[in-house]
Amino acid sequence: MPSNYALLLKGKNEPLVVEEVAFPTAEAHRIVVRTRAVAVNQADFFLQMMGQDLFPWLEFPVVLGFDVAGEVVAVGPDVEGFQLGDHVAGLGGSFGGDLNPRGAFQNYVVLDDNMAATIPDAMSYENIVGLPVTVSTAACGLFMPDYLDLQFPQADPSARKQTGKTILVWGGATGVGCAAIQMGVAAGYEVITTCSPKNYEYVQRLGATAAFDYHSSTISDDLKAAFTGKTCAGALAIAGADPVGCKEAIDACIELVANVPGDKAVALAMRPPDSLPDGIRIKFIFCSDIKDNEVGGHIFNTYLPEALSNGSFVPAPKHEVVGSGLEAIEGALEQLKKGVSAKKLVVSI
Ligand SMILES: NC(=O)c1ccc[n+]([C@@H]2O[C@H](COP(=O)([O-])OP(=O)(O)OC[C@H]3O[C@@H](n4cnc5c(N)ncnc54)[C@H](OP(=O)(O)O)[C@@H]3O)[C@@H](O)[C@H]2O)c1
Repeated sequence: MPSNYALLLKGKNEPLVVEEVAFPTAEAHRIVVRTRAVAVNQADFFLQMMGQDLFPWLEFPVVLGFDVAGEVVAVGPDVEGFQLGDHVAGLGGSFGGDLNPRGAFQNYVVLDDNMAATIPDAMSYENIVGLPVTVSTAACGLFMPDYLDLQFPQADPSARKQTGKTILVWGGATGVGCAAIQMGVAAGYEVITTCSPKNYEYVQRLGATAAFDYHSSTISDDLKAAFTGKTCAGALAIAGADPVGCKEAIDACIELVANVPGDKAVALAMRPPDSLPDGIRIKFIFCSDIKDNEVGGHIFNTYLPEALSNGSFVPAPKHEVVGSGLEAIEGALEQLKKGVSAKKLVVSI
């Protein structure tokens, strides 16, 4: 059995340490993946800074990390569609204790079979590894019944049933936004988005029909004008870590769906405010929720493998490799805390 090392957080605000941990086994509907690349997310450094203040059920030590890509080295019972040696990207994530084999920041990671996608052999692990968190967050908001409840995306453009409806993706240049734009279009919806003007062309290449500057004092009116004559299928609110920006995003999304014809639904990638208006369905996204229903399997096992192969879904935003080895992850988290624009920070393992 090869040795397995993990990046452990032993307490709130403690530095991360690399230590040997048990080699994981593949139980039913699980695979074990030899990690080749990981991506860092805001949730990783929020967990490090806030520990149980963020998730009271967290147990220390915890293996941090959600985004992982690598090759399959073990396949559990009842798993279909994965073979030893397959290249995959999937959503890990641990809150400590028995869940630690699922933390992404270790050499060997356990993944649920409906939360891992096979990827083309020619695609580098570093290029693809930012997808699991962004895709599952966008998919939860767009496709789960309590959220926007959109029809599912199709990888084959000729199989798409156009709905004639339009969605707002607030924060199109975030990783989650890039995934939401592409999957919204693949599901048969027009997508209007917000981002900084320097990213207009980028989000339009991903499929958005129009982009507006979220910094503008006229953004709410600009969006309402853009939705004139359209039927809205809801809004997905994504912003950065700044609470002011998050509040502006939530308010603007609510104002839009309240004032244009169509579905009164807003899915939030950030925590909702204490008081919410009546008549609008608003819900906070928890990205791993898609593993407990048919959304996870459709996205990771059906849609993504084909869409990555035929090029109808491209890894976005672009990645930047900022180091190599488990020890380099803490530096990547420090870099992420300073902020990124249309970029995914990645570490090779
Ligand atoms: N609830 C969940 O399960 C879950 C899961 C994953 C992520 N999230 C949250 O989703 C958000 C996005 O995560 P990510 O990793 O995709 O982010 P990211 O790629 O690191 O986001 C960077 C981008 O944020 C954009 N941005 C910053 N402030 C904004 C604002 N006020 N309005 C719109 N866009 C803004 C910037 O766009 P410009 O460069 O164009 O200005 C920048 O490109 C984060 O807040 C994260 O915590 C939630």
